[in-house]
Parts: sequence; structure tokens; C-alpha cells
Amino acid sequence: MNDRARDPATALPFLPFARPVIDEAMIAVVGDTLRSRWIASGPQVAAFEKALSEHVGGRPVRTFTSATGAMEVALALLGIGPGDEVVTPAQSFFASANVIARAGARAVFVDVDLATRNVDLAAAAAAVTPRTRALLPVHFNAPLDPAALAAFRARHGVRILEDAALAIGSRAGGRPVGATGDLVSFSFHPNKNMTTIEGGALVVNDAAEAAAAERLRFHGIARLPDGTRDVEVAGGKYNLSDVSARLGLAQLARLAEWCAERERLAMRYFDCLAGDDLLTPERLPPRDNPGHSWNMFTVLLPLGDMALTRKGFMEAMQREGIGTGLSYEAIHLATYWRAQGWREGQFPVAERIGRETVTLPLYPGMADADVERVCVALARVIRSRPA
Ligand SMILES: Cc1ncc(COP(=O)(O)O)c(C=O)c1O
Repeated sequence: MNDRARDPATALPFLPFARPVIDEAMIAVVGDTLRSRWIASGPQVAAFEKALSEHVGGRPVRTFTSATGAMEVALALLGIGPGDEVVTPAQSFFASANVIARAGARAVFVDVDLATRNVDLAAAAAAVTPRTRALLPVHFNAPLDPAALAAFRARHGVRILEDAALAIGSRAGGRPVGATGDLVSFSFHPNKNMTTIEGGALVVNDAAEAAAAERLRFHGIARLPDGTRDVEVAGGKYNLSDVSARLGLAQLARLAEWCAERERLAMRYFDCLAGDDLLTPERLPPRDNPGHSWNMFTVLLPLGDMALTRKGFMEAMQREGIGTGLSYEAIHLATYWRAQGWREGQFPVAERIGRETVTLPLYPGMADADVERVCVALARVIRSRPA
């Protein structure tokens, strides 16, 4: 449904669970880029990568057509392939694990923390074997702790690819996510805190890794001193367009303002939901959450106390003119991973989140009254009976 459409039942505007900010200034700069006729990768990509690098304190950044592409390139950069293991949380978007399988390596799932939904590092340490080459943790409902990740890397001698798809604009240890650590990937999908329509980025450690990432994102092509081209590694095709990059530049300039607005709206959610005996604090994200950029506001539904199923709940909210999301299923229970031997009962926290989670509307431009409307509907719908 068009998110500006009025819901006929309520005569109130429909509230989607996520909505990018695309204003006239952004449409104008995209139009200028289109009119320039240089629309594939070019000067705007270079400028966007420079701006992203400044955002992460000077570390090199390369852009991609998606975070998934950035993570695929990152694993190739690390030389991860058949025979290797990568430890990763069982609770994330499917992409976090798919990229490991697509590299030919084995994903080793571990459980997550109920509040932050971030990987349980003690479980991750216990899952390390001599074949473990990397940890692929996800910034979910709180920024990952850079000191804990550095200690993990030093102790186990593995590389770390931080999946920060949800965390552009987050700060950890007082610095932007991406300013520290090993490899860090971001997503610029329209549901994220800033968008390039589709797109992603990878923060790397040095110029050599940046050059390798550039080759891997564009067919593996290297330029030779005589002006001809060579391919040493079969690369893919993941380069961002200049049109997307120009939008990304305009969005990045607003990121801090939008993250502050998201935080304010998240606090409004906490205030409105406080005191609801069915939505206890363990069902909500951590409120005291320094540096978190609030890409989502997730709640665990009290299904045991509800007459509705989660699907029934989401449909009832839709009838109230409120969109909800499902972030995310427990990855290891998908058919592909069950076929590799993963099964129910192995990761109880990830499985519980996968069963109970829903995502409520949260995006810049929402009014406090919109948050209040969602909370009133939520309280009513979790207590309602099937229609
Ligand atoms: C945790 C996580 N990782 C990776 C991705 C993939 O991002 P993209 O759609 O840019 O490939 C997403 C997208 O939602 C995500 O939520």
C-alpha cells in the first residue's frame, strides 16, 4: 500500500514499518546526476566512498550493489572457501549465513543474547575449531562491543566480518561503527537508516585490501602497466551506480539528524509501552542503549497470553492501518540449513525470537502521535480475539 494512502477503516494515514526519507533536494541531485549522463560507477561513487571513509574515521571504504555483495567480496578477500568454518549467529537476516555457504565454507551457528540479539561471544568462542577462519557477528539491537571483538580476534586468531547492515549511524566505544575492527559491511537498502535504493559498503583495513575489493567487485579485472587488462581471480559484478552514490551522499549528510530522531521516537515507544503487563521489559529492546542508531523497534509478542497468532496479529495491525515487519526468523531452521543437519532446539533464544518477534513502525518523520497510535493499537490487538 502507498504509505501516504489513507486507511479506509481508520481514515488515518497508513504507517509502514519502515520508510526512507526522499525529499525534493534528494530528487533534484539524482536528477542532476541522470542529466550528467555519467550514471554508472564514476565520480559520485568516488565522492561517496570518500565521505563514507570520513564517516568511519579515515578507514578505506568501497561501495557495492548490496551489503550481501559486500559480504561476499569480504569473504573472498579473506580467502575463505571449502574446508573453512565461519561462526555466525542463528538470529539474523538470511544473508548473513547465505554468504558463507556461497563462499563454499561451513556456517557454524551459535545462539544470541535475548536483549541485544547480538551473538553470544562465549558460545562463539566454544564453537571455534582449528578450521574456523572467521567470526561473522551482526549488530542487531545494540552496537557490538569493539573491545570484546578485538579480544576475540586476538584470542582465537580469526578474522572478523562485522555485519553492520542495520547499524549505519551507530556508535560503539564512542566512535562510529566501522571506525574500529577488521572488516565491516553496511547496507543501504531502503529500510536502513540511509539508502542508495539498493547498495552496501565494506570498510577494509588498508589500500591493498581496498584494491582487492575493487577487483573482486568488478570481474576481477586488474589494469596492467601497458594499459591492457588481466584477470587473476574470477570476480563478480557488484559496483554501485553514480545515481545511487549521489543519493547516498545526500542521505549521509542527514544521517546523524535522522538517528537522533529515531532515538527520540524509540524513547517515546518505551514511555508509551511502560506498565503494560503483557509487554514486559524483556520483550522490548534494551532502553539504555548508548550509540544505538535504532534502525528497528522490535518486540517479542506474548503469544502464550494471546488469542491471535503472530500472523493474525500482523493482519489485525494492518487493518488498523499499521504495518509491521518480521525481523528475523531463526536462520538454522530454514530448509537449506536443516538439510545440512541443523535442527530445532539447538538455539533456544534465536528460535524464541524467530517465533515471537515483530517490528513496529520507526522512521524519521513519524510524529509522537503516530507512535502513540501504534502503542494503543498494539495493546488492544494483543488482547483481541480472532476476527
Ligand atoms: C543483518 C542483515 N545483514 C545483511 C543484510 C543484507 O543487506 P542487503 O539487502 O543490502 O544485501 C540485511 C538486510 O536486511 C540485514 O538485515
